[in-house]
Amino acid sequence: MRVPVRSSIQEIEEYKPGKLVKGALKLSSNEHPLGPSPKVIREIVKSIEEEELKLSKYPWEKNEAELRNEILRYVSVSASASARMKKDNIVLGAGVDGVLDTLVKIFIANGDEALIPVPTFSLYESLVKIAGGVPRYVKRKRGFSIPVEELISSCNKKTKLIFISSPNNPTGNCIPEDELRLIIESVDAMIIIDEAYVEFADSSLVNLVTEYENAVVVRTFSKAFGLAGLRIGYGIIPEWLTSAYKKILIPFSVNSIAIKAAIASLRDHEYLRKTVELVKQERAFLTENLQRVFKVYPSKANFVLVDVSPAKSSEVYAELMKRGIIVRDCSSFRGAGDSFIRVTVGTREQNELVVEALMGK
Ligand SMILES: Cc1ncc(COP(=O)(O)O)c(C=O)c1O
Repeated sequence: MRVPVRSSIQEIEEYKPGKLVKGALKLSSNEHPLGPSPKVIREIVKSIEEEELKLSKYPWEKNEAELRNEILRYVSVSASASARMKKDNIVLGAGVDGVLDTLVKIFIANGDEALIPVPTFSLYESLVKIAGGVPRYVKRKRGFSIPVEELISSCNKKTKLIFISSPNNPTGNCIPEDELRLIIESVDAMIIIDEAYVEFADSSLVNLVTEYENAVVVRTFSKAFGLAGLRIGYGIIPEWLTSAYKKILIPFSVNSIAIKAAIASLRDHEYLRKTVELVKQERAFLTENLQRVFKVYPSKANFVLVDVSPAKSSEVYAELMKRGIIVRDCSSFRGAGDSFIRVTVGTREQNELVVEALMGK
């Protein structure tokens, strides 16, 4: 006999990751154009060979504490001088996805609501539904800024969470700090600020966590550090929330190799600097070239959003696919319509192929 799956699960769409086709140029998942730092790879291999990592053992608390210290140092550089953070403000997870999963479980019970300005990262709505909550959507304005007043007035007693991706996936824009402060100060909900792409932007909103009790920032090693395959991310959360987070997080969900790699990544400052320089330079190259024909939205992330109208995004996606280039057809993003594609910034050689393919259309 089959036991019925919870009804709320039946409504959830499966997460569709960017396609991977052998031999094709994959620019659909906003991954690092060069991969992780060679120093990080050497460090991982060395520590496995020398059995320093002890893979037969569960991940060590000690290594996790070392990483949280390293993150604290890294985050404090970008936070304003007034922002005083401690190790207890830093929590880990299996990617931002794992951190978000834990946060949603803390705040959303049956019937609770979450507000999501769309279009944005689709996992937010899935996690809310999985927890038995109800996602409610606020459509972003033209140019994709958030309608702040509308968002605030959409809150009610059941609203527990508001998700703000900054820079936003797939639109690439950030929320201005004054707007975010207004939201945080006006609502009784927890604001989750997703800074998965923050390294490619000019500033961070992380200092707000030390100023407000209802703001958290989540970040990842998947993008600027090139460790998407190892699944490691972190949250910067107010201290009062740490104990609940630790109770809910699946034990050992962050693996030993990921912890080691994340520590080594944060110590290779030069590689991060080069990565950011490359992405910013190539983002400008893609934008300048593509905007000769298309509307390209200014991006603070490692991807650009391109309006291919009057063509349909699905047609352009298929056409590029035939040429061995995989981009993201954004019609699957709630509220995005059917004329946007998202292109991950690649190396110059890769970007030239994209420009050639799109302009030759
Ligand atoms: C806005 C946003 N948040 C989170 C993630 C997932 O990050 P992670 O690999 O750390 O789970 C992505 C991945 O594309 C993203 O675009």
